[in-house]
Amino acid sequence: MATKAIKLLIADSEGTVCDRISSFLAGDSTYQVVGRAINADECMSLALIKHPDVILVHSGLKPTSGIEVCEQLALQNLNSATLLVMAQAMDENLYRRMMAAGVGELLMAPLQKDRTMEAIRNAFDGKTSQRQNDAAASNEEKRRIIVVTGARGGCGRTMVAVNLSCAIAKATERVSPGSNNVVLADFNVRASDAATFLDIRPQRILADITASAGGVDREMIESLLENHDSGVTLLSASSSESDGGQELTRGIIVSALAVLRSRFKYSVVDVGVTGAEVSNVVLDFCDTILMVVGMDLPRLRAARLYLDQLLEANFPREKIQIVLNDIQPDSKSILTAQAETILEATVAARLPHGGPVVLASVNLGQPFVLTHPNAPISLAVNKLAAKVGVEVGKGLSVGGLLQRLQPAREKNELGHGICYNAYKAITLGIK
Ligand SMILES: Nc1ncnc2c1ncn2[C@@H]1O[C@H](COP(=O)(O)OP(=O)(O)OP(=O)(O)O)[C@@H](O)[C@H]1O
Ligand SMILES: [Mg+2]
Repeated sequence: MATKAIKLLIADSEGTVCDRISSFLAGDSTYQVVGRAINADECMSLALIKHPDVILVHSGLKPTSGIEVCEQLALQNLNSATLLVMAQAMDENLYRRMMAAGVGELLMAPLQKDRTMEAIRNAFDGKTSQRQNDAAASNEEKRRIIVVTGARGGCGRTMVAVNLSCAIAKATERVSPGSNNVVLADFNVRASDAATFLDIRPQRILADITASAGGVDREMIESLLENHDSGVTLLSASSSESDGGQELTRGIIVSALAVLRSRFKYSVVDVGVTGAEVSNVVLDFCDTILMVVGMDLPRLRAARLYLDQLLEANFPREKIQIVLNDIQPDSKSILTAQAETILEATVAARLPHGGPVVLASVNLGQPFVLTHPNAPISLAVNKLAAKVGVEVGKGLSVGGLLQRLQPAREKNELGHGICYNAYKAITLGIK
């Protein structure tokens, strides 16, 4: 039986390590170079997309040094072993960082064939046995980043992201109460809506952070997190009144995702504008892409194009799940089978039109999966949660949850049955 080749990713700004290793491998089908990265960003992206077995990182990688990249890779909790290639002798501090980042071995340049191949093989074998040992435990503990995207605005991305987060929180809360397993990251660089849907006024937002030379650390990200009574934690990139002027760099997003993944079992990300740098980075890093498709012909066509683009960009087909959303009462006149024909893809879930339940939910800042758990749209969102790998049971007693939500609303001192943000928008005359 043919064994699978060991997949290698080589990160090296100058290309000498790549060339040398390629010359060692010529004609050897035991190894396959699945990616060459010339900088840290490329290395991180390829590591997530190509799932290499072994990553060789040159210490002189630019602009971020090789050891920093190894540290970032360690944060990602990938199934890849890492080797560091050094051009000069290392000091004690570097050695410590290398150990902390789980770097398997250190190779000195210029690379020697036998020594290099032996280190790759050892790193691969070590990772394989670690994977086997971890398999049973990690099955339960598997962390997921679920991105909610869509080809066009107004197709229901935020509605899905918010209610899916609450459905997951409800389900996981039942299994382990108070576990705070779910974060909703609203990475919309224009006005963030998720906070409004949850009736939260974020004190600080991601756009307040500017990456310092040392990068963005856990403390910075944690200082932005807001807790919602549903058990969902919220991270907002911008405020609902934002003018969209702030720049979120790739580094900030990568660091934020790494912190969220290490702290929460489920990270649900609303990426907002399709094609923006922020959304591209998140798509690279996530485990599941939920593509929400508003059910009318123009939106279906736009979704088809977007799906083609993602597949051309080598996103694995199985990572993408299509969610049809009946944004209009008569959307159901297009059958699921017809949508599948247009999209040339299988549909994972279809959300019915929610009518006044959805509108009230948005205006009150109370997710409908909590306030109307038996509404058809809530049941469909629960089913979607199960589809993305969450065990969804009966959840918390809804009465208890509403009691917890009610005082929070009263704190707004409005008493109009409308959330603070919506009230403010109306009084400011913002439509
Ligand atoms: N299934 C549905 N039933 C009823 N109303 C819906 C449904 N899906 C979405 N809506 C309505 O459509 C509006 C737009 O939804 P949402 O804000 O989630 O879209 P979006 O894709 O996030 O838009 P944006 O481009 O502004 O980020 C919401 O106010 C909601 O009331
Ligand atoms: Mg939105």
